Amino acid sequence: MAAPLYLECNLCGNQQPYVPFVPAICQKCESQWVEAHYDYEAFKREILRGIPNRPNNLWRFQDVLPLNDPSALNLYPAGGTPLWHSNRFAPDLGHSAVYFKDERYGPTSSFKDRQAAVAVAAMNENGIREAVIASTGNAAVAYAAACARAGIKLWVFMTSLVPQEKLREAALFGAEVIRVSGNYDQTKQIASQFAQRKNLLLDRGASSVPARESMKTIAYEIVEQLGWRAPDWYIQAVSGGLGPLGVYQGFKEMFNMGLINKVPKLAIIQAEGCAPMVHAFKAGKDTATPIIPDTRIIILSTGDPGKAYTYLWNLTQQYGGVMESVTDLEAYEAMKALAKSEGMAVEPATAVAFAGFQNCQNKASLAKMSWWRSIAPVTPSRSKSMFSATNGQWMFT
Ligand SMILES: Cc1ncc(COP(=O)(O)O)c(C=O)c1O
Ligand SMILES: [Zn+2]
Repeated sequence: MAAPLYLECNLCGNQQPYVPFVPAICQKCESQWVEAHYDYEAFKREILRGIPNRPNNLWRFQDVLPLNDPSALNLYPAGGTPLWHSNRFAPDLGHSAVYFKDERYGPTSSFKDRQAAVAVAAMNENGIREAVIASTGNAAVAYAAACARAGIKLWVFMTSLVPQEKLREAALFGAEVIRVSGNYDQTKQIASQFAQRKNLLLDRGASSVPARESMKTIAYEIVEQLGWRAPDWYIQAVSGGLGPLGVYQGFKEMFNMGLINKVPKLAIIQAEGCAPMVHAFKAGKDTATPIIPDTRIIILSTGDPGKAYTYLWNLTQQYGGVMESVTDLEAYEAMKALAKSEGMAVEPATAVAFAGFQNCQNKASLAKMSWWRSIAPVTPSRSKSMFSATNGQWMFT
């Protein structure tokens, strides 16, 4: 039995039952900041016993994932990815304690596999046989693969700007792929109207408890891989912000259970042509103004982050952190540098995090030396489709 005991509102403290696939909104004050709470005492006992008989994937942490009976499901093995110590990339910048959480090792090579695994397991448990998702690319592919294995029909809405091979890969898994001539925020609206008209389940990303909770397994894995220690910093490239939203749920839970002695500072990196969070952060605002994306890195092109930004802003205020942007060119350069120094091929969306690290690093050495201290930033990465995702070969020349 792992389902949340209750949902609790971050704003007013109201507690209410968890109902799968009902958008998590506080019944008292209508806030979207409701968080799932589990039987942490029982889970902590399991952890202290070494979490025996658990698989080496995200289901290792099934006690804090929103499913009634994971053992009854044919679970999709996402997660359980390696944590690499940076050999040359970070040491070349003067840092010896930097780690990469290598999400290329997931079933479709991105951290969205975690989201797909938990969301599709929840669909299975609740008898849902057809669903709709809008995506900037990687979530669509991840859901398509997980749905294929579960025998769930999936409708995928992607903008026509998404690299062709992502569309093809989703179609290969049997998803119905709809290309929308518009940006991602418009595509999301069309997907939502379609789901409503056909009365189908729409994946709600950051407002969906299974999607959000799935990402916390990244935090649990990192901490376990570091010998039950938290890194000083966590760094990630961000589009809509679901990744760090969920990851921090995990860090906070472990902190509250007394398993780690701090919650890491958060570094959010966006592509300069789609950086509504960075603009708001630098202006000291807790809400982001939507923008029309203008970046080649379509995977990171959420122009309207909505409430996710406010949540991430709050995290940076509570635990410390920064939001920075990098140009597309800086991302491509970082991609080359990473490949040449670590032998790791990642796609441009991931390279954004690495470019952000380089930039902050440069700024830190110029201005505020204490900024990075002894860091262990971690970032998901993915190797496939980097050529066409950057529209040509010039970045390698
Ligand atoms: C490789 C990669 N990095 C980062 C992101 C940003 O995701 P989010 O902002 O939803 O956490 C994505 C989104 O698909 C991605 O595929
Ligand atoms: Zn409330």
